[in-house]
Amino acid sequence: MSDFETRNKYFDRLFNTPGLRWMGQNTNHLPLPAAVKQAMIDSIEADEFRAYAPPLGFEELRAGIVDDLGLPGAIAMVTDGGVEALYHLCHCFLKPGDGFVATDPSWKWPIAFSRAVGATVTEIPIYDERCGYSLSAAMLERAVDDKTRLIYLVDPNNPLGSCISADEMRGIVQIAKRLGALIVHDCTYRHFATDHTLAARLYPEGTLTIYSFSKWLGTAGLRIGAVVGAPDRIARLASAPPNNLGSNVISQRAAIAGLKMRDSWFPEVNAIQRRNQARIKKAADAIPGFRLPVYPSNGNFVVVECIDAGVRPEALVAAMQEHGIMIRQGVYHTARFGNRFIKVSTTVPEAWAEEFCSLLPTLIEQARSMNDVPELF
Ligand SMILES: Cc1ncc(COP(=O)(O)O)c(C=O)c1O
Repeated sequence: MSDFETRNKYFDRLFNTPGLRWMGQNTNHLPLPAAVKQAMIDSIEADEFRAYAPPLGFEELRAGIVDDLGLPGAIAMVTDGGVEALYHLCHCFLKPGDGFVATDPSWKWPIAFSRAVGATVTEIPIYDERCGYSLSAAMLERAVDDKTRLIYLVDPNNPLGSCISADEMRGIVQIAKRLGALIVHDCTYRHFATDHTLAARLYPEGTLTIYSFSKWLGTAGLRIGAVVGAPDRIARLASAPPNNLGSNVISQRAAIAGLKMRDSWFPEVNAIQRRNQARIKKAADAIPGFRLPVYPSNGNFVVVECIDAGVRPEALVAAMQEHGIMIRQGVYHTARFGNRFIKVSTTVPEAWAEEFCSLLPTLIEQARSMNDVPELF
């Protein structure tokens, strides 16, 4: 069977596994505010989905996203998730031979999109205690040249959970300005961070900020996100977009309702996921060779290192799946460092995190003796 068919069947099987504990894709499985579900029901009952939404999104949603980021002067283009914005901007702003710079680890898809355009990809290794598992301006300086056109920052970093400091962000922005390069600031996990600096505040004319509802609001399957930037950049993206007939109407209604509930609902979600992080840290610290390189994580997930325990991440992922728990193997994010770790999502009911922690010691033993690990994606 071809690779893409195998991958699809893999996710289809997971999706159709009743009661699967989703702890591998940073999705949010804590209860949604009732108002968000009601907004979707109301939209369906009003038959709203019979018509196309406005091409850039409902005005109320566009304004709400810009307001949530606190970026006056910028405008939003609503997209079918942040990933569509990333795909589109790579195709819009890159041409063959342009330089695309990302970190390693990072989120792999924009790297694939820019390679597909013919850009030259440079990945700066940041899985290193000495740089605080984060990109510094000095590291970026060594990686760029006059062909660098786009700098892709996943911040908070998925999978590491580290954030770029305000000082380093200032230096990074200076480099981008000097080169006339775009910064694509992927802020998918910003709501979970304790301290986060928006590149767009320092470099509004050259930053495209990626916004997602999938993780903080917990609407991954609704496919709703945005790209936010200066009007001339968005105008370029708006000239021939893949979703020129607008994004899903029901999803947009959910997102609008979610923004209204954010202040009253989200702090408790973040408190729960931080408690889950603490549980996982305690369980990992009790196992020789296991550790959390970044703690607390600024995302809704943690990297759990298992290399020093002689455990293969893939074997541990497979063992957890046999118990109905989906976690992620490091190679999904990085070929270079992927043998070091698993990644575990924390926006889940506390009982799920408890179950993961209590199974961990036994499943490590099972993973050690596993010879045939099924293919994972
Ligand atoms: C860094 C990063 N960017 C973008 C996305 C995709 O977000 P969306 O669901 O809004 O397309 C993900 C999903 O995991 C992600 O980790």
